Amino acid sequence: MKAADEQKSVLKSGVKRLLGRTGFDIVRSANNLGGVDDFIPFEATMKAARAAGLSVGDYIDEVMNGTPGATQSTIDELRTLGVYQAKPDTVLEIGPGSGRYLEKTLKECAPQRYEIYETAAPWATYLVDTFDVIAQPTSGSSLTPTPDASIDLVQAHKVFNTVTFLGASRYFFEMARVTRPGGRIVFDVMTETCLDPAAVHAWATEGGSGHDSYPAAMPRRTCVDLFATLGCSLEASFLAPMGIASTEVLVFAKAA
Ligand SMILES: C[S@@+](CC[C@H](N)C(=O)[O-])C[C@H]1O[C@@H](n2cnc3c(N)ncnc32)[C@H](O)[C@@H]1O
Repeated sequence: MKAADEQKSVLKSGVKRLLGRTGFDIVRSANNLGGVDDFIPFEATMKAARAAGLSVGDYIDEVMNGTPGATQSTIDELRTLGVYQAKPDTVLEIGPGSGRYLEKTLKECAPQRYEIYETAAPWATYLVDTFDVIAQPTSGSSLTPTPDASIDLVQAHKVFNTVTFLGASRYFFEMARVTRPGGRIVFDVMTETCLDPAAVHAWATEGGSGHDSYPAAMPRRTCVDLFATLGCSLEASFLAPMGIASTEVLVFAKAA
């Protein structure tokens, strides 16, 4: 076997082993504050994506997760819901990781400013260098550097099912604070909608081994009621694939 092929095969089996163990739909950080301790290394993932001739986002969807088009289908739903029609000029994303949603968001709209809060330094640096976004100092649950009511679209994908209840809740208050009146908040959480007995059985038997913090559930009503008190009403929701089951994407609008 050639050295390059050998490297690919080692990486593939390592990734497979990781995914097999966790059922993760994830790019994990070495310093993830949510308690997930494994990670898919930046360098090796980038190399593997290049070798496959794919963008890193498409590589994660197609090769690592085996769900080609999954990211695009969420973006398509959001477009149908009019999220990009509003022409967001300022976007903030929590936990963009490889940037698979970020890249596609930039194709849908052309914001003047795109801020990221990402705890994994190598991925944050890559996103700054590649997409000219602004990496804000990330404490793990606050958006302090971002002023009140300054962002048109605040989003997080596949993040709040990897962090603790408190971490997610603290971000929720912050997301509502930084969103401008009339702006949108989009994120997914593993709600009771995603947790029928068959899904719980699948997670219990096939997922999460060695990763007690993933997948973390969050009651739908908790989100809807909390955001309502913060002036944000639920506009729409839909299911998206996550690991061996699903997650629920919630779309809120902040009162104008
Ligand atoms: C499961 S990955 C999802 C990445 C990306 N959104 C995607 O769907 O491909 C979770 C991401 O959130 C980041 N992260 C974890 N805890 C975080 C926190 N407290 N604040 C900001 N980012 C965090 C991780 O480093 C990782 O990039």
